Amino acid sequence: MSADFIGAELQELKRQGLYRRLRRVEGEQGPTLNLDGQEVLNFSSNNYLGLANHPALRAAAKEAIERYGCGSGASRLISGNMTLHEELEAKIAALKGTEAALVFNSGYQANIGVLSALAGEGDVILSDALNHASIVDGCRLSRATVVVYPHCDLGVLEDGLKNAPARIRKLIVTETLFSMDGDEAPLAEIVNLAERYGAVVMVDEAHATGVFGPNGAGVVAKLGLGNRVPVQMGTLGKALGAFGAYVAGSRELRELLINRSRSFIFTTSLPPAVMAMAIAAIDLVYKEPQRRLALWHNCRALRDGLKKLGFSLGESQSQIQPLVIGDAQKCMDFSERLLQKGVFAQGIRPPTVPPGTSRLRITLMATHTHENLHRALKAFEEVQAGFGG
Ligand SMILES: Cc1ncc(COP(=O)(O)O)c(C=O)c1O
Repeated sequence: MSADFIGAELQELKRQGLYRRLRRVEGEQGPTLNLDGQEVLNFSSNNYLGLANHPALRAAAKEAIERYGCGSGASRLISGNMTLHEELEAKIAALKGTEAALVFNSGYQANIGVLSALAGEGDVILSDALNHASIVDGCRLSRATVVVYPHCDLGVLEDGLKNAPARIRKLIVTETLFSMDGDEAPLAEIVNLAERYGAVVMVDEAHATGVFGPNGAGVVAKLGLGNRVPVQMGTLGKALGAFGAYVAGSRELRELLINRSRSFIFTTSLPPAVMAMAIAAIDLVYKEPQRRLALWHNCRALRDGLKKLGFSLGESQSQIQPLVIGDAQKCMDFSERLLQKGVFAQGIRPPTVPPGTSRLRITLMATHTHENLHRALKAFEEVQAGFGG
């Protein structure tokens, strides 16, 4: 069979304005970056607290390598379950106020592994329309019937719950802080509905972990819903500056996932240095609440500044500020012109976001300086003027 289709598909992506390429970062991840050889202000990272290059994480990783070596050598169920995995899990459970936690190799793997372990053929998963691709893929992999409800639409969610037969297993899955819109799910209402109709709630706190709630424990903790949300997933590679993911919940949930979750079972476990970094990051989040305060201060400053320039920003009050442009090509042009002025705010297109909602996804960091924000706002103003206001 000829492989000509590969080139043809690439041409088609280019024609649709959906072609992507990798950009290369030289050096460290910080509020400024060397991107493809250019020094830029970084407004495109999930390293919200600036921990990815923190001295405490570096030191923890080095020490773990000295003590435990580099690779873990096997999956957790064979010989790859090391003391640091369990130490990190105990720390996460304490942070989340749950009985137990289980570490996964990434958020993607956690979501596909948990959803396919907890739901199967004949069950129903109710999933928010803006949930992350890893949740979408987990739903597909589970082979359950999937009811996608419009973003945060409690009426349609309730209809879906009502229409599902009482006896079957029902799972509601939602992000707590949405990755592309930066808005919060109406979690208290979702939990009420789940309890009324006998459904289980699973949340994805990828973007809330380390940032929201007491000690950065997330939105569930902020709302005091801990014991009403049985499955709480989050990631370690965003605000926590390390890598990997967790699922927090009951001891039984942990046991079931160890036995059923294929993306947990059939993969080499994370290396000790990564565990050590995540442990150090959680300690820092407890010790340095001022990082979260600095992040909120920066969010407000950028938001106020963009509004003053006449940009319409939507509802997000969080560290994720979407600036919706609409058309994919126009969005990428805007992003490119900002980059020429030394500001990296990634354009996000379908399939990551729905067609017609291409946007700049502007993300703030605790470590952006006043000067950084001032320069960024000036660039936005100049690019906007070039686009005819
Ligand atoms: C909401 C959400 N869930 C899960 C993931 C996947 O996490 P990871 O990058 O650790 O695979 C991401 C982002 O990558 C995300 O934004």
